[in-house]
Amino acid sequence: MEVKADAGRFDQVEADALVVSVFEGEDPAAGVLGEVNAAMDGLIGDLMGSDELRGKAGDTVYLYRPGNLKARRVLLLGVGKREDYDLDSVRQLAGTAARYLRGKGARTIAILRRSQIDIVAAAEAVVEGALIGLFEPDVYRTSDREERRIEALVLCTAGGGDAEDLQRGIDRGQILGEATNFTRELVNEPSNSMTPEVLSLRAREMAERYGLAVDILDEPRLAELDMNAILGVGRGSDEPSRMVVLRYAPEGAPSDRTVALVGKGVTFDTGGISIKPSDGMEKMKYDMAGAAAVFGAMRAIAQLQPKVNVLGIAPLVENMPSGRALKPGDIVKGHSGRSIEILNTDAEGRLILSDAISYARRLGATEIVDLATLTGAVSIALGNVNAAILGTDDALVEKLIGAGRLSGEKLWRLPLDPEYREIVKSDVADLKNSTGRPAGTITAAHFLCEFAEGTPWAHIDIAGMAWQNEKKSFMAKGPSGFGVRTLINYLDCNVL
Ligand code: BES
Ligand code: MN
Ligand code: ZN
Repeated sequence: MEVKADAGRFDQVEADALVVSVFEGEDPAAGVLGEVNAAMDGLIGDLMGSDELRGKAGDTVYLYRPGNLKARRVLLLGVGKREDYDLDSVRQLAGTAARYLRGKGARTIAILRRSQIDIVAAAEAVVEGALIGLFEPDVYRTSDREERRIEALVLCTAGGGDAEDLQRGIDRGQILGEATNFTRELVNEPSNSMTPEVLSLRAREMAERYGLAVDILDEPRLAELDMNAILGVGRGSDEPSRMVVLRYAPEGAPSDRTVALVGKGVTFDTGGISIKPSDGMEKMKYDMAGAAAVFGAMRAIAQLQPKVNVLGIAPLVENMPSGRALKPGDIVKGHSGRSIEILNTDAEGRLILSDAISYARRLGATEIVDLATLTGAVSIALGNVNAAILGTDDALVEKLIGAGRLSGEKLWRLPLDPEYREIVKSDVADLKNSTGRPAGTITAAHFLCEFAEGTPWAHIDIAGMAWQNEKKSFMAKGPSGFGVRTLINYLDCNVL
């Protein structure tokens, strides 16, 4: 999709459709809306007078051959109260408009600037929102695929903003939107095509294309490094395990800081011997969404070139039951040298992450952020609105929450009091991988925290957020790419 800013008047822009947002209760005769209304012979005023258009979120009016505009169609979208309108509203507006207008066969769409939000940030959000909105998870359909494309997006800025700044916002929006969709493509793949090996090769291909250093550890190398937690989980599967290590080390980056992004990559989670019920098990193909988010973030980082050293680490396994699989009661000793009693083979995420976090420290990480579809309990606690964040370093956690806010990805902190630590102690080993039902998200995080040792660390449990169960006006049902933009904003901006 080609994107450009147009400083001209809205009535001169040539596009298949012009998108105009309408705030709740606003005066159709005033300001920019008043000008559009006048150009459309008072039609907007009529629609608002008859309550067909009240400006509430969800209000949609699509008009043919509107008055004195060069655009062939106008789409009026209600966006709610002006005081609640923020960057995420901009993203959603763009996503909704792009999806709706693609459905009408539009190829070029223009979006009129209507808010007071910083124009560069808003430009970025429009591009991101449109790209994310247009993603479709229908690659395997042989009929009824969405074949229509929005080819061009025009931002009608009404003369606001500096052209170079705007272009920077547009480029950034494109990078972030495409990185998010790259992650969604990986997550969308079924486990019979997205095995640990295939996923590692996709990461390699991406790394080579964007100039990241890449190292893929195969099973012999994992064994040399005593990564027995990863190897233990992978043992039950015929698909060999891998660990991907991506490295971004730009010239001029401070040598005393290396951020490690660690992502859980279980390409399918049957639960292993502690097998899951069959109902809904198909969803467990998205248990590699943490790894995919790390790959998406690294892709964007390679393009944006912030001055910071970053490692992207993803342990990749398939969790299967078999004659070779780990069994409850088994004990493994991983890369860190600590012994772990396996009480439930379905608590495999924390096992593979324990080795990956230890390895991140060994590679010199000075701060670690992990993303994982780690617990079903997180959806019980927070539903599908917030991801949980937990961590040992308040400043790191606060910055990530801030980066999330900037990205429209909500993170809610859960506590990690030392009292919870008792729960992860084992009778026969240093730690056990599964505890009772209470505080499931917290106890899982506590387990990971043992492997971060003193290194500042934060963990984001995305199990409730990485897959969207319902279709939204601004986004298809399916993989969401949650976390990608938060990680990018964390690394690329100074979030306060
Ligand atoms: N991958 C699951 C968590 C999950 C559940 C992700 C639902 C997405 C949707 C994880 O490996 C798991 O099975 N966790 C167990 C932990 C338990 C055995 C301690 C869970 O949450 O039930
Ligand atoms: Mn599991
Ligand atoms: Zn899992």
